[in-house]
Amino acid sequence: MENPKLDVRVVRRIDEAEGIVSIELACEDGQALPAFAAGAHIDVHLGNGLVRQYSLCNDPAERHRYLLGILREPASRGGSEFVHAALREGARLTIGAPRCNFPLVEAVQRSILLAGGIGVTPLLAMAHRLAALGQDFTLHYCARSLSRVAFRDVLQDGPLARRAYLHLDDGAVSQRFDFDWDVGPAMPETHLYICGPDGFIRFVAEAAALRGWPKEQIHVEYFGAQSVGEAGDKPFTVTAARSGKTVEVGADQTIAQALTDAGFDIALSCEQGICGTCLTTVLKGEPLHRDDCLTDAERQGNKLMAICCSRAKSATLVLDL
Ligand code: FES
Repeated sequence: MENPKLDVRVVRRIDEAEGIVSIELACEDGQALPAFAAGAHIDVHLGNGLVRQYSLCNDPAERHRYLLGILREPASRGGSEFVHAALREGARLTIGAPRCNFPLVEAVQRSILLAGGIGVTPLLAMAHRLAALGQDFTLHYCARSLSRVAFRDVLQDGPLARRAYLHLDDGAVSQRFDFDWDVGPAMPETHLYICGPDGFIRFVAEAAALRGWPKEQIHVEYFGAQSVGEAGDKPFTVTAARSGKTVEVGADQTIAQALTDAGFDIALSCEQGICGTCLTTVLKGEPLHRDDCLTDAERQGNKLMAICCSRAKSATLVLDL
């Protein structure tokens, strides 16, 4: 899926917190940037061959800038390390137009935004949007310590201050995140948005399910790499319908890797099932979906799959390639 590209410049870089920088991007010529929806991300082409996805965390009403918050990940495959070490004010970058796989449902009474660490970024954009709409919401931001809390000025002094609650692992027990106290049992017309590392999401989503929150009222965006391969994965074959060529996908390979090795030119970006770049039409066979970019309905429809991470339930898949 082609995503239009834009040339931008880093106009500001701020050390926001321990291990977190904010990067503000603007158009080279001062033009307005494309509008974005709360929860959207952009592809950032880092100029060293790497493409990474980062959530936009500023107010979606702003058109003069895109604001990113980027954590230096110890397990980084080079993206966050490059940003922290080498991306300076004045640098030119190419980015993709904003895309949103984590949309806000605006026509509800109340929204509860639950952030683990750097997962706060898309939720900040949502908080801005909800504040602009005058809707009822709370933002809970869980972090290891105050030194690791990014965008403190926005959270503590800005328009979101009355709605934002910090929960620090090293703080008093009384301020730690407690699902029953901070969220509580399922409520109609209320939606939960959860973003953070895998473990945080699992913990919060399980707590919500146990307390009767319906799946349709829980929205999740994973932050950071999820494992793509799993024990017990089996080989299968993929046929590229346009050429008729059939390729074997090994147990320890992704479809994208097997096709690339066989000479296909496969467009990839995140390689984690997040960005949607590799979405491919399925003509025959049943995919085993492992992405985070399709909706539940799209996964059930089995018409599209992310070939960077998803596999096959059937022995063969026929793809529109
Ligand atoms: S490359 Fe990003 S979803 Fe597959």
